[in-house]
Amino acid sequence: MKKVRLAPGPFVLPMPTVLVGAMVDGAPNFMTVAFAGLANYDPAIVAISVSPDHHTTAGIRANGTFSINLPGPDLVEATDWCGIHSGKQVDKSKVFETFAGELGNAPMITACRLTAECRLVKTVELQPDMVFFGEVVSAHVDESALTDGAPDWPRIAPLIFTFPDKGYWKIGDRVADAWDAGKNFKA
Ligand SMILES: Cc1cc2nc3c(=O)[nH]c(=O)nc-3n(C[C@H](O)[C@H](O)[C@H](O)COP(=O)(O)O)c2cc1C
Repeated sequence: MKKVRLAPGPFVLPMPTVLVGAMVDGAPNFMTVAFAGLANYDPAIVAISVSPDHHTTAGIRANGTFSINLPGPDLVEATDWCGIHSGKQVDKSKVFETFAGELGNAPMITACRLTAECRLVKTVELQPDMVFFGEVVSAHVDESALTDGAPDWPRIAPLIFTFPDKGYWKIGDRVADAWDAGKNFKA
């Protein structure tokens, strides 16, 4: 099949859409982040790539803690708003009802069906962004988004972000079971 070469850019995969929370000057602040993912299995460590200029970034550096919140389609407008307005100019502390976990200073969003609080364990300075690695101290899921005690992804309904078309998407149909579908493959 003929391939078309793209200029280098963030086209490797669709990205999650997360709201990253931190306390800034004593108030919760949230920013939208698409450059987010898992970096270590056990202990669970997440990585987020952020601009050093963001208001939330200042809070993460000051406290050494942050939260990851997965918004669903029901929160798409508030999520996008948090990505186009800075806490430096607007008060984002009342946009969402929040709750605290064990850390006490990593505010999590009640309306997000899956949330996690993280302790900053490593920072890597790139240019111009920086990558924060946060160990997950606790994760919380809505009871209504569980099936047989396990997180049910269609019920959690995390927003997916794609670039360069700048779109928010829902997850689609399950295709197969992992660590299983390959058993039938004949190489
Ligand atoms: C869809 C979307 C994805 C974004 N992803 C990131 C990201 O991965 N890293 C980042 O530093 N900023 C990202 N931003 C920009 C920040 O969310 C935005 O600058 C925000 O206003 C920062 O808020 P704060 O200054 O209150 O922290 C994204 C914005 C949108 C709309």
